[in-house]
Amino acid sequence: MAGKNFYITTPIYYANDRPHIGHAYTTLLADVLSRYHRLLGYEVFFLTGTDEHGQKVQQAAALRGVTPKQQVDEYHLRFKELWARLNIRYDHFIRTTDDYHIRYVQQSLQELHDRGEIYEKDFEGWYSVSEEQFFAEEELIEGKDPIGGKPVEWVGERNYFFRMSNFREALIRHIEEHPDFILPDFRKNEVLGFLKKPLQDLCISRPRSRLEWGIPLPFDPDYVTYVWFDALLNYESGVLDFAFPDGSRAWPADYHLIGKDILTTHCVYWPTMLMGMGRQLPRHILAHGWWLSQGRKQSKSAGNAVDPLELIEDHGVDAVRYYLMRDMVLGQDASVTDELFRTRINTDLANDLGNAVNRVHKFVLSRFDGTMPAISTPGPAEDELRELTGEVRERTVELIKEIKLSFALEEVGRLVRGVNRYLENQAPWKIKGEDEKTLRDLGNILTTAGEALRIALSLLYPVMPEKSRQGLAMLGQPDEPTLDSLDWGRLRGGEKVRRAEALFPRIEARRPTERSEKNGEDSGSGRGKAGSEQKKTANAVAADPGALLDLRIAEIVAVEDHPAADSLYVLRLRSGEEERQVCAGLKGSYRATELLNRRVVLFANLKPAKLRGLESRGMILAADLPDGKARLLDPGELASGSVLRFGELTPSPRTKAGLKDFEKLELRVERGKILYGSRELNGDGDFVRCDAPDGAAVH
Ligand code: MSP
Repeated sequence: MAGKNFYITTPIYYANDRPHIGHAYTTLLADVLSRYHRLLGYEVFFLTGTDEHGQKVQQAAALRGVTPKQQVDEYHLRFKELWARLNIRYDHFIRTTDDYHIRYVQQSLQELHDRGEIYEKDFEGWYSVSEEQFFAEEELIEGKDPIGGKPVEWVGERNYFFRMSNFREALIRHIEEHPDFILPDFRKNEVLGFLKKPLQDLCISRPRSRLEWGIPLPFDPDYVTYVWFDALLNYESGVLDFAFPDGSRAWPADYHLIGKDILTTHCVYWPTMLMGMGRQLPRHILAHGWWLSQGRKQSKSAGNAVDPLELIEDHGVDAVRYYLMRDMVLGQDASVTDELFRTRINTDLANDLGNAVNRVHKFVLSRFDGTMPAISTPGPAEDELRELTGEVRERTVELIKEIKLSFALEEVGRLVRGVNRYLENQAPWKIKGEDEKTLRDLGNILTTAGEALRIALSLLYPVMPEKSRQGLAMLGQPDEPTLDSLDWGRLRGGEKVRRAEALFPRIEARRPTERSEKNGEDSGSGRGKAGSEQKKTANAVAADPGALLDLRIAEIVAVEDHPAADSLYVLRLRSGEEERQVCAGLKGSYRATELLNRRVVLFANLKPAKLRGLESRGMILAADLPDGKARLLDPGELASGSVLRFGELTPSPRTKAGLKDFEKLELRVERGKILYGSRELNGDGDFVRCDAPDGAAVH
């Protein structure tokens, strides 16, 4: 790090996708590290943004029938919205369609060209649109791209190349001389392994005839810049105008945070490009693992992506921040399921931290009228807790500087458990009486525990800004923690505590129906009160009525006649991994064979009912035709399990919704689409359609 300055970046995310927990993780990690460095007295610059050119974006736009510009203008906002919800405080959000970036890319290309590092040749190879990368035949796995396992296409054309091969030895030397350039170590070895083989030159152009959506090469307007060449330069262009207060420039970055999927582009393409232009290399590139769900990398295309908004909705933003930081050991893969989440939050936050803070808080309220007492005479137990606090503080700061956040949080947990142990040994609840000596003893205990907790909460502040402030206020310390807050002895006595409810209420297991209906994940055993009550405690925002319904795509996997009702079928529906039974009055409109294997739109959180003795969970949506028949909605290409929304409304479905909630929306067909007001029903931008006349009501 350059003095007390700290420049950190995230990858810029493709603006073709809805952000999921993986994107959220990298950005959150950058936010937490930024906040830690601010707490430790650094000047920080934190850059994130969106990657808006290239074939992937162009294709996504074409599929949705919008221009690439419309696509990115719309989609980059999804990232910004999520960052706001996650309480992420970046300094600049770069879009690669920004003018200053485009100019910088062109200037850089010209520089490389002038230095003779770019040449033109005919070229053929396998291209993966998903990774936006060429792969050699022998790199493919079963004919698919080796990173995401997606199809590749054979591309043969004349292109411009960067003489990347010239920098192979220099790069190896740099990596060897700077052992912490690529972190963790095993990723460094992976890159060195890759560099053992001869390095190809890097194709840095695409003919305009094939790809319109890119930055024109300054020396040949028939070509646009290869998206990675364009994207990587964001790390420099994003800070061109910025200088730290001491006058120094931000570049080179202290940390590029990346997922392991983009190791080669960052550790080979990027440093050689910089070498080619005679520029400084970043100080550290740190690759983390993948968040897995059902054993696979989370991604939109795998259909197993956990929606971070949903988690926040259920548990509040700080619990999500804590879980993600605590449960991924940097470099390794990690999993997120309801069960893991609940256990972690209940153990660390409800039982340990919350309990300790609540105990001290309550005592100060009940015995000292809400005013913190002052330390009197520390004995051996007090000295011991003070020592533990100092030790934990030192170790935590070290671990943060080594970017080992899960271990740093474990360390703070050790302190919190130490406080609970101290309280149990001192047992303030056994100290009765109001005489001076008694109150002094009690005050001594509460101030010592309060002081240790104040430091623990300050150390947790970058991870849980809101909860930490709340906990500090409960101890009479409402201000934002600073470097000084980490010192023992700041609690002076006389501070008024802010009265509050439990800091972290326990999370109870959901009823099996809840989350499993939503995304097919394991939902635990369903003891005690269920998620509906949790929801009340989470930041309840009055949702648009259109967001309350859980509408999703399901496939009809079995059709039977209802034994007791002539108009009803008994259908077995599968949505994602979940199966259920629905009774549907479709007999007058469809034959059984027309329904089997058909995908339909399911209103999944409708209160279950019994129809003529048979359970029915949910309702299938169809439009009314003038002849009285029903026409099913047509999900187009949307896969079973896809979650639907109206326009841009983020669904936050009620646990159970009623028919009234549905009727209120007055859904109707308009030009073949399903409208709620002016919002069109879609799944990730793909519209649900219906071949019914304009104005037809949907039921
Ligand atoms: N646009 C490029 C990056 C250009 S940087 C100059 C790109 N974008 S991406 O939208 O695909 O985002 C990739 C990054 O998102 C990963 O490197 C990682 O940081 C994060 N993640 C996406 N899925 C992930 C998981 N399942 N788990 C953890 N993080 C992953 O690649």
